[in-house]
Amino acid sequence: MGLICHFLLSLLILGYAQTIYMMPQQKGEEKYHKRSERATPYPVPGEDMAFWRQNAQNTLQYQLQITNKVQQAKNIIFFLGDGMSISTVTAARFHKGYQTGNYEHETLVWEEFPHVALSKPYTTNGQVADSASSATAYLCGVKANTYTVGVDSNVLEGNCSAQLNTAYHTPSIAQWFQDAGLSTGVVTNARITHATPAGAYAHAANRDWEDDSDIFYGGEDPTICDDIAEQLIYGETGKNFKVILGGGRRHFIDGNIIDVEEGRGGYRLDGKDLITEWINGKATEGVSASYVWNRDDFLAVDTANTEYLLGLFAFSHMDYVLERDPAMDPTLPEMTRVAIEMLKKDTKGYFLLVEGGRIDHASHSNVARKALSETLELDEAVQMALSLTDPNDTLILVTADHAHSLTVNGYPDRQSDILGLGDVSDVDGLPLTTILYGNGPGYQCTPTGRPDPSLSDLEDINYKQQAAVPFDSSHHTGEEVGIWVTGPHSHLFTGVYEQNYIPHALAYAACVGDGLSFCSTK
Ligand SMILES: *[C@@H]1O[C@H](CO)[C@@H](O)[C@H](O)[C@H]1NC(C)=O
Ligand SMILES: *[C@@H]1O[C@H](CO)[C@@H](O)[C@H](O)[C@H]1NC(C)=O
Ligand SMILES: [Zn+2]
Repeated sequence: MGLICHFLLSLLILGYAQTIYMMPQQKGEEKYHKRSERATPYPVPGEDMAFWRQNAQNTLQYQLQITNKVQQAKNIIFFLGDGMSISTVTAARFHKGYQTGNYEHETLVWEEFPHVALSKPYTTNGQVADSASSATAYLCGVKANTYTVGVDSNVLEGNCSAQLNTAYHTPSIAQWFQDAGLSTGVVTNARITHATPAGAYAHAANRDWEDDSDIFYGGEDPTICDDIAEQLIYGETGKNFKVILGGGRRHFIDGNIIDVEEGRGGYRLDGKDLITEWINGKATEGVSASYVWNRDDFLAVDTANTEYLLGLFAFSHMDYVLERDPAMDPTLPEMTRVAIEMLKKDTKGYFLLVEGGRIDHASHSNVARKALSETLELDEAVQMALSLTDPNDTLILVTADHAHSLTVNGYPDRQSDILGLGDVSDVDGLPLTTILYGNGPGYQCTPTGRPDPSLSDLEDINYKQQAAVPFDSSHHTGEEVGIWVTGPHSHLFTGVYEQNYIPHALAYAACVGDGLSFCSTK
């Protein structure tokens, strides 16, 4: 057998996975649309004409039977995937399908919701949002300056005296529910004082003012401006939450108080133990309240006989799903279940915010495997909520605050591992991982070029996908994010909206707040 035949035979044997290393194109123009040359991949068996026609007809039938639920939304469950860009949702779906064997036909739970819209996250002073200003938009209905939370654009980042002016405070939809005499709760796997949950209860000129030391070291006076932890315990909205679950104990206790798990003091300078103050405060009010800090105690809470529940499960953020100690920390679906059990005792209705907060942190580190597993944890939490609620009285919304530069690059074959290798560069001859980032700590270029990712352990839970520009922490990106909605009045979400439209439409459906209300028009 000649050399050429041998070459062709090995191509056949290796099949579509084989990629031919190309010389760089001579004509620059051609590079932009030429797929690197390789054996044609085989289609997935069964995906012929009849399959796709039937698939579309089934979808059409489903679409035709969707009717608008023109009725009051008694309950609202708001799921927020922090940094969960559209591309993150796509990649998480591929990742889930790779695990279940459904591959590209897999869906995330919210992708089967009847109504979908897009949200424009730019802020009053920036094209690319941070989580605090966007929380102000999607929870309080007002766009704000980047890095501020629960205040309008009169308050510039870090201006304590402007924070004091209550005319600039933007009450959240949680407050609107409370004003209507309904129950509220907030759940996150990030610190409970972090930007997203803070949007539900705090008014701060700087999202980093999670405790008094942050204000002090920031050059402001913490006896004048309340920090975010203090606002959670004593603030107008925070003190009335029936359920508070998340991480971040360090912001509630003084440096002289040793944390139960961490074995060192908290971050506060004012001597306070806000956890004990919360427990004592509820006792003084004569209401039944529980504080828990580990999974066993949490799962043992008698929700039927507990009016108020505070769970703080970590010194800082709760651990990533892939690093979690299952004996110590509850999952996001478990926290969602318990929160709903607590809140649904209020037969008049409730508002619950659930954040998948660590999708964002993983992408800031350019670790896509963690970003996708965190997204799938949110998927399970949404499934939990669906299984515990009545679609006729509960509106469930899933959205993100802003995007990340996680990209899904061409041209992986069908049923590929989305966290694996994709194409081969026709310039440097090296493969790329299908997922890459725009910037961040995944930057690996050296004077001799970029390293070959096939030499790295891509299964490592801390593998960083390559990024184009170095940063310690990657940037958010500015494109639209999705809004997926089911339940009463989900049809109010079918367009491209300013992000601050979201709580106005929810308030209309739930008949709370002081804007238009379904109940005053019916
Ligand atoms: C801070 O806010 C106060 C009160 O709104 C305002 O008078 C002052 O000019 C602001 N300072 C800066 C530096 O913007
Ligand atoms: C929801 O309401 C519709 C129309 O009133 C009814 O047909 C359906 O059975 C209800 N679904 C549930 C789960 O109660
Ligand atoms: Zn972020």
